[in-house]
Amino acid sequence: MDRNLALEFVRITEAAALASARWMGRGEEKKADQAAVDAMRKAFDSVQIDGTVVIGEGERDEAPMLFIGEKVGSNVNGAPSVDIALDPLEGTTICATGGVGAISVIAVAEKGQFLHAPDTYMDKIACGPTARGCIDIDLSPTENIHRVAEKLKKSVNEITVVILERPRHSDLIAEVRKTGARIQLIGDGDVSASVAAGFEDSGIDMLMGIGGAPEGVISAAAMQCLGGDFQGRLKFRNENEKERAKKMGILDLNQKLSIEKLAPGSVMFVATGVTDGPLLKGVKFKSGHIATTHSLVMRSKTGTIRFIEASHNLGKKSLSL
Ligand code: FBP
Repeated sequence: MDRNLALEFVRITEAAALASARWMGRGEEKKADQAAVDAMRKAFDSVQIDGTVVIGEGERDEAPMLFIGEKVGSNVNGAPSVDIALDPLEGTTICATGGVGAISVIAVAEKGQFLHAPDTYMDKIACGPTARGCIDIDLSPTENIHRVAEKLKKSVNEITVVILERPRHSDLIAEVRKTGARIQLIGDGDVSASVAAGFEDSGIDMLMGIGGAPEGVISAAAMQCLGGDFQGRLKFRNENEKERAKKMGILDLNQKLSIEKLAPGSVMFVATGVTDGPLLKGVKFKSGHIATTHSLVMRSKTGTIRFIEASHNLGKKSLSL
């Protein structure tokens, strides 16, 4: 994949972040999400790719734009064929309430590489590069924490685990607390949290627990670029979800999903902060129609990790950039 594309993709997440940030704290989840979707869709038009959305806003009948299967990009002659996993606004509630860690995110892979994850749940575990190879979703949370602590040369009570605050996690939270590890409970946004686990400075060592499956594929792409680790296992709520997974080509519904199964090959990951988070600053609207964005751009092929701070003169360009 052409490395110049990475900069094109960051323009897209910037556009979506700028658009949804207008809705921050206004209690309007749907409008914030719609603003991000509209801006992202429009920004895709100027990118020279033959892209197919494989993780998107939902099925065609429930999502007017950026639905699974939708073609994106200008598709001029010779444009590379890529698969796209996206979430124009990851953390809609965070944005609507002005909370921590809403992002706009796109992961890109060569055709056929991303797992086509159905819109169900996934049990997840993630850690950064230093602890890569020592996590195993088949082990207990206690064992995983001890393994990560050993690799990081930390005592267990210096390990910080991020967990989504949900009733389904009460046993997990109790077990992690019993180990002595520190827990950061988050209301939403497990992509932002798992990517943060890949950066030592974030103060987050691990992510554990059940969140969205599409978000799991996006997090796995990020972890591949970072050299961190991620494993998942699909958690279905009903038979209907199982049937959909089978139709999407997942034959073993209970398999352990490593990065190699979720997001193998050459991948790119691009995210822009909407609200301030553990890794990325949110959009700031400044005087003189200036808005600033903070983005992360990564490529698995080279392992380059770039943070891009941009200042946008909104008086001079439309939001779709
Ligand atoms: P949205 O951006 O779609 O609102 O997702 C936010 C999120 O918190 C994800 O980060 C997470 O994977 C998922 O929702 C958890 O789902 P649930 O809220 O149903 O527990």
